Amino acid sequence: MPYKTIIEPFRVHTVEAIDLPEQDAREAALVRSGYNLFGLHADEVIIDLLTDSGTGAMSSRQWAGMMLGDESYAGSRSFYRFEKVVRDLTGYAEIIPTHQGRAAEKILFTVAVGDGDVVPNNTHFDTTRANVEYRGATALDLVKAEGRDPAAELPFKGDMDIEALRAAIAEHGVERIPLVMVTVTNNSGGGQPVSMANLRAVREVCDEFGIPMFLDACRFAENAWFIKLREPGYADWTPKAIACEMFSIADGCTMSAKKDGLANIGGFLALNDRDWALQARNLLILTEGFPTYGGLAGYDLEAIAQGLEEVVDEKYLRYRIRSTEYLAEKIHAAGVPTVRPPGGHAVYIDAKALLPHIPPQQFPAHSLAVELYRAGGVRGVEIGTVMFGRARDGQPDEAAPMELVRLAIPRRMYTQSHIDYVGEVIIDVASRADEMGGYRIVEQAPWLRHFTARLEPLAKPARA
Ligand SMILES: Cc1ncc(COP(=O)(O)O)c(C=O)c1O
Repeated sequence: MPYKTIIEPFRVHTVEAIDLPEQDAREAALVRSGYNLFGLHADEVIIDLLTDSGTGAMSSRQWAGMMLGDESYAGSRSFYRFEKVVRDLTGYAEIIPTHQGRAAEKILFTVAVGDGDVVPNNTHFDTTRANVEYRGATALDLVKAEGRDPAAELPFKGDMDIEALRAAIAEHGVERIPLVMVTVTNNSGGGQPVSMANLRAVREVCDEFGIPMFLDACRFAENAWFIKLREPGYADWTPKAIACEMFSIADGCTMSAKKDGLANIGGFLALNDRDWALQARNLLILTEGFPTYGGLAGYDLEAIAQGLEEVVDEKYLRYRIRSTEYLAEKIHAAGVPTVRPPGGHAVYIDAKALLPHIPPQQFPAHSLAVELYRAGGVRGVEIGTVMFGRARDGQPDEAAPMELVRLAIPRRMYTQSHIDYVGEVIIDVASRADEMGGYRIVEQAPWLRHFTARLEPLAKPARA
């Protein structure tokens, strides 16, 4: 190609109107929602970067596939297509559909994890952590030290710290570690990829101690693309071949098809262990449905099967990763501190660096996320002490390791001018950082509090 511009490898087929509510309507929405962006109506947002989960645009082939959905309760043709595609990609013997990723987690941990156990991961996603803790177990985050340093420019900041994994096994005892998980890419750690070498190193430790290894595979294709770009020896591999290699290293995976399944709903648990699969299917029938639909419609299974085939397309992945990088570079060039290098599905603003005057217990990343909405109707999500900090009776919250605002980019959804607008809003808000104040929580749930907590603003700092 003689031209440098990486264009969207698709054209728009159906449109959906979006609008920016007036300033006073945005203010009223913030008050009504208890300053919690999860409480906004989607129509009150113009660019919604809350999540890349289930929010992408499906292709014409996926929509066409939905018309072919077989809604039979048992033995649906759509299930067999889904099973074939998932097995071809992952190589795992047992394929169990679920209505989304957390259902796969709940089932896997109910089968495998018990009270007092310890589950290591590079970084647990919030639902993964909550599902581990719900079983009375401890969720250990063992990402290597560079993965906690937003400014470090390294290719695989999602890698697990292998020495820390060995130390955890020595400390807690192998009998208390029912499985090791690796999240690809590492969502809560900035969407950073995990190298193939690191997956192999985790495998080696797991083999040494006889511990099963699972991937949290939500963004397996984006991880595969980073391996192709950054890890020596993979430049000539197709993304699919890299993905297959990643899956072959582990014993199973949980998957939210709402990410790299390019679908609006769905997920699966896939694994080799027949006994665990048997127990998982029994639980599936209790909570999700018969094993050939697992809480999904036949048409959802078709959309996922088609999505899993489209997501490993090189042209799609080149555009996808480049479009995230485009926003990150724009705001980085303007001096806004971000997690470097940009991850796959989202741009993460480092609120600790931008708002050093707001302590973690006053939720700097939350404050920044609210301000992006107030200023430009852009919705992101706090990944900091509201999400991961611990409420402690009568004492200040325990701070999360990082204070990030994640701007997750839905797949195949927004154009370059939407992203230019977002960049402009961020740069404007960042230029007024010293005017922002902190928040306090006035109402919270015992777990996953960020979804429903109500907050109120604290007095703003005097202007510097
Ligand atoms: C890394 C990771 N694991 C698990 C999940 C849970 O998936 P779901 O939202 O489909 O339940 C998510 C969702 O965002 C995720 O990013």
